[in-house]
Amino acid sequence: MSGRGVSISFGGMKAVDGVDFDLREGEILGLIGPNGAGKTTLFNIISGFLQASGGEIIFGGGKISGLKPDKICRAGIARTFQSARNFPGFTVRDNVLMGALFGKPGKTRAQAERTADSTLEFTGLDKYAGMYVSDIPLSAQKRLEVARALATEPRVLMLDEVMAGLNPAEVEDAMALVREIRGRGVSVIMIEHVMKAIMSICDRIIALHHGRLIADGAPSEITENKQVAEIYLGEA
Ligand SMILES: Nc1ncnc2c1ncn2[C@@H]1O[C@H](COP(=O)(O)OP(=O)(O)OP(=O)(O)O)[C@@H](O)[C@H]1O
Ligand SMILES: [Mg+2]
Repeated sequence: MSGRGVSISFGGMKAVDGVDFDLREGEILGLIGPNGAGKTTLFNIISGFLQASGGEIIFGGGKISGLKPDKICRAGIARTFQSARNFPGFTVRDNVLMGALFGKPGKTRAQAERTADSTLEFTGLDKYAGMYVSDIPLSAQKRLEVARALATEPRVLMLDEVMAGLNPAEVEDAMALVREIRGRGVSVIMIEHVMKAIMSICDRIIALHHGRLIADGAPSEITENKQVAEIYLGEA
């Protein structure tokens, strides 16, 4: 997946400003930047929830920008939401089943149920399968966001701060899950403020600041990038 010159403005403020990026096949790409940098907005553009005012997103040999979110999801790009959008009145299993049914509308109910159950097992949520979302721990709710996206059987998975609010042990578990997802051949682009996680699992990292791409490189290069250091030190 690639973006070229991706831009959007809100009332004159350029939230995403001419961003070029590439997510390579089988890669874990980190997307970092301070609060308000435009990270979630870029995700919203890629997934079709917002229309870019300029530039384009290319995936699978064609332009996907301009398509509606359901079309983009069915083309193989799934996302999670920064504030979890699980369905609280449904069980964990039904939440994942909805992902399976939504992602591949041609599936029979039985096929979707098999996908849901294997996804529950893969993400370690099988022990919560029959419980309501409101009754499971936060770490499991975050994981459920990932499971719902995975159940659509994507080629690209976009994670928006799925490690936020987790304790260190839960962060380790989440990191292991992301690695396993990539191990299945899924390319991952992840927004994360948990630097330890981003630095250790990403193959490459891109950084946004005021909507602009300010760095693109291996974790070691990003750590040594002056502008990135200034922004993060400036924040702290
Ligand atoms: N729908 C919208 N309408 C107007 N302004 C918006 C909208 N969505 C985002 N913005 C603004 O665009 C800027 C970028 O927001 P965005 O949510 O993309 O930041 P972010 O990098 O994800 O930050 P955080 O790390 O806090 O999640 C912010 O100034 C935000 O207030
Ligand atoms: Mg955000």
